[in-house]
Amino acid sequence: MDLGLKGKNAAITGSSQGIGYAIASSLADEGCNVALSARNQERLDQAVADMEAKGVKAVGIICDLSTEAGCGEFIEKAAAELGGLDILVNNVGGMIPGTIDSVDDALWDTILNTNLMSFVHTTKHAIPHIKKSGAGRVLNVSGVTGKQLMPGALTTTIPNTAIHGFAKIMAAELGPDNITVNTICPGFTNTESWGPRADGMAKMKGITADQVRDGVSGMTLLGRWAEPQEIGDAAAWMVSGKNSYQTGTVVEVCGGYTKYI
Ligand SMILES: NC(=O)c1ccc[n+]([C@@H]2O[C@H](COP(=O)([O-])OP(=O)(O)OC[C@H]3O[C@@H](n4cnc5c(N)ncnc54)[C@H](OP(=O)(O)O)[C@@H]3O)[C@@H](O)[C@H]2O)c1
Repeated sequence: MDLGLKGKNAAITGSSQGIGYAIASSLADEGCNVALSARNQERLDQAVADMEAKGVKAVGIICDLSTEAGCGEFIEKAAAELGGLDILVNNVGGMIPGTIDSVDDALWDTILNTNLMSFVHTTKHAIPHIKKSGAGRVLNVSGVTGKQLMPGALTTTIPNTAIHGFAKIMAAELGPDNITVNTICPGFTNTESWGPRADGMAKMKGITADQVRDGVSGMTLLGRWAEPQEIGDAAAWMVSGKNSYQTGTVVEVCGGYTKYI
């Protein structure tokens, strides 16, 4: 199926590895030009080279998306270098474990600025560009802790639930401009950042990292983790021209982790 993404321009936040990289990769496979962002130059350069090898225009922009200035810089450079924007994917973030007692104000600032306010700031700066597209797309990447209770997941439940509310409001505000705003809600996904995280959780629980991973697999209906590309491919369809009447929704791609009906 031709997704109608050839020649479109997409900006993806936090995209030198993991789910952001996979989304960029799926978009590039469809002929979509991509603007990538991260803080680490070396990984970003490699990601840009990987996208260029697929035959699309790719640009890498070093920025700190935990600040509004960094978000604005990413969007303005992405739009200038690609020649406009049709698609924004808000992806940057990640799990910083913690409890109500252990997370101090400085850590809350990092968590909320990266996992939530970056979505708000990047969207704000992207709207004027995406409005010119005529059929723009905004896709947010949240996570299953925004849909189903996972005791202990305080630091991701707060931003993820807020992202769902933010996306709904933006869908209402941008609908008249024919811009759709949706959220993809991945389950546990086998990204690079899970290596040290699983080790840390294993140490805390006195079990092995394999046991941590098997425990997660057991919570899904498919009995396994997602591969990043499975999230990337679903995301590419969600922002494509083939998906024109879906807006304000949260789409779970979680192998059956969530159990409500
Ligand atoms: N992996 C999962 O199991 C899972 C499950 C559900 C939801 N999610 C969500 O999916 C998204 C991506 O997760 P992931 O596991 O793919 O993360 P990841 O592997 O840690 O990758 C994060 C990406 O964002 C960049 N980044 C991080 N902080 C940044 C900042 N302040 N400014 C600019 N770039 C920054 C990183 O590059 P630099 O470090 O070089 O900046 C990297 O490219 C997150 O929102 C996460 O909450 C993940």
